[in-house]
Amino acid sequence: MYRSHNCGELRASHINTEVTLAGWVQKSRDKGFIVWVDLRDRYGITQLVFDEERSSKAMMQQAQELGREFVIQVKGEVIERASKNPNMPTGDIEILVSELNVLNEAKLPPFTIEDDTDGGEELRMKYRYLDIRRNPVKNSLIFRHKVTQEVRNYLSKEGFIEVETPYLIKSTPEGARDFVVPSRMNEGQFYALPQSPQTFKQLLMVGGMDKYFQIVKCFRDEDLRADRQPEFTQIDCEMAFIEQEDILNAFEGLTRHLLKEINGVDIEKFPRLLYDDAMRLYGNDKPDIRFGMQFGGLNEVAQHKDFNVFNSAELVVGIAVPGGNSYTRKEIDKLIDWVKRPQVGALGMVYCRCNDDGSYKSSVDKFYDQEDLAKWAEVTGAKAGDLICVLSGDTNKVRTQLSALRMELAERLGLRKPDEFAPLWVMDFPLLEWDEDTERYHAMHHPFTSPKPGQIELLKTDPGAVKANAYDLVLNGNEIGGGSIRIHDKATQALMFDYLGFSEEEAKAQFGFLMDAFQYGAPPHGGLAFGLDRLVAILGGQETIRDFIAFPKNNNGRDVMIDAPAPIDNEQLEELNLKLNLKS
Ligand code: AMO
Repeated sequence: MYRSHNCGELRASHINTEVTLAGWVQKSRDKGFIVWVDLRDRYGITQLVFDEERSSKAMMQQAQELGREFVIQVKGEVIERASKNPNMPTGDIEILVSELNVLNEAKLPPFTIEDDTDGGEELRMKYRYLDIRRNPVKNSLIFRHKVTQEVRNYLSKEGFIEVETPYLIKSTPEGARDFVVPSRMNEGQFYALPQSPQTFKQLLMVGGMDKYFQIVKCFRDEDLRADRQPEFTQIDCEMAFIEQEDILNAFEGLTRHLLKEINGVDIEKFPRLLYDDAMRLYGNDKPDIRFGMQFGGLNEVAQHKDFNVFNSAELVVGIAVPGGNSYTRKEIDKLIDWVKRPQVGALGMVYCRCNDDGSYKSSVDKFYDQEDLAKWAEVTGAKAGDLICVLSGDTNKVRTQLSALRMELAERLGLRKPDEFAPLWVMDFPLLEWDEDTERYHAMHHPFTSPKPGQIELLKTDPGAVKANAYDLVLNGNEIGGGSIRIHDKATQALMFDYLGFSEEEAKAQFGFLMDAFQYGAPPHGGLAFGLDRLVAILGGQETIRDFIAFPKNNNGRDVMIDAPAPIDNEQLEELNLKLNLKS
């Protein structure tokens, strides 16, 4: 038996018992006549003691030679500590060691295994197995397990069946690039790793598995950010014989359950916002509604004066910054510099101070009188003591810029509280989105999404205006899930591919299997997928998903621990009938 107890469980009630523990040396303090060692495992830390009076000379020496992260096993008696540590669950006791076995020595770790480590991100990723010994990473992984467990329990109880779908498939268009895998047996041909199990879950509906879920890896070759990894996990779900409302209720139920079980938060009904309203009020399709600062459209009240910047703009829009009138001129100038940074891209910012006496002082007083500015305040909801920030220009650009400013200010004002949860459904996304580069429409969600009833005709005349039965679940300003009601008949699906610029042959070659299946009694169906990594991170009060993934990739898509991707040797290339054609 390696251990009778773990390092987190011994209490005063265990005093006088003989125990065996195993773990890693967190640290030791050597006073010469007495040595204390903190022994750590997944469950906690227990203090060991060796002293001249009670321990043999040989063991004293052995204890003095223990290095950080040595793996040891000890036998000994649980004794009461002379000076107790109320901050440690095991702080009432220590182990008077009678036998010490070094199970394995350890090189000095390249960073300290402490909650606040001295290791930089890249170094910690290279030695991820050491990083996992640290509480913040270890606890995040345990937290992820808890969330995943709750998801499985809840969905199983609701009658969902977990079905695994293949990883070696053909391209599914979720909007990113595919990772491809060459086939040895089929010369010159490639599998694609799934960007999601989208087509398979729809085929499962045709197969009659009317409530499906899967906790599944997805692969997308796209640029990485704090909330994106090239391989990530979805809670992928699909239901048949349902309407949009059924899906929203089912997955609101799941999210409510998680918020309750994991965070102890009760949220009655999730608010819903139309996509168009989200864009108008927050400039963003995933608004953080933990705080207000809604956009106020100022075209009507700020145009047609002599200020040409506003007159020539498609959109003039502002937000009220609570308490912002206290900003000094210098601070406001810094804010203006901030919106002018290339990452934000505004050309400038107009502002208006709302003084405590009810008067206004704006940066464009030459063009606007007190009455005009009072209207600005009314539209943006600004009160005395606030600062109104106004941007103008092309609608889409200005919305993005002001949304960035809104988030930045909320961050600075401490309004984005990690322990507060504000879920939100964003509904009725456009079916299509115009792509400037290719100069054509793309499916905003994916090409299997059905247009709203009665809108298919609009595709011919005003494709950009067609709305879809598509919805996202947003939590604290992050898109944690998205889905739609699907097309389930061959004719409509063929029409969609046609509108998306696929020739009949291309559509057949890529998705013939799905359209074929639709001819064999496809039920009405729809579903959604949550990003598990994002969901877990946000429930855990963070926005970076990396720490909730055991072995993540860095921003260049590299696993710096195993050093992947890596070249493969010629023999392997030949076997795959591949020739490298590297540009020098
Ligand atoms: P979608 O593409 O919106 O929908 O993806 C669903 C959710 O997956 C998460 N996500 C990611 N998380 C981490 N890293 C990434 N690179 C990444 N990409 C996406 C997001 C997102 O909301 N098949 C459809 C779902 C459906 O229609 O049922 C789909 O994949 O949280």
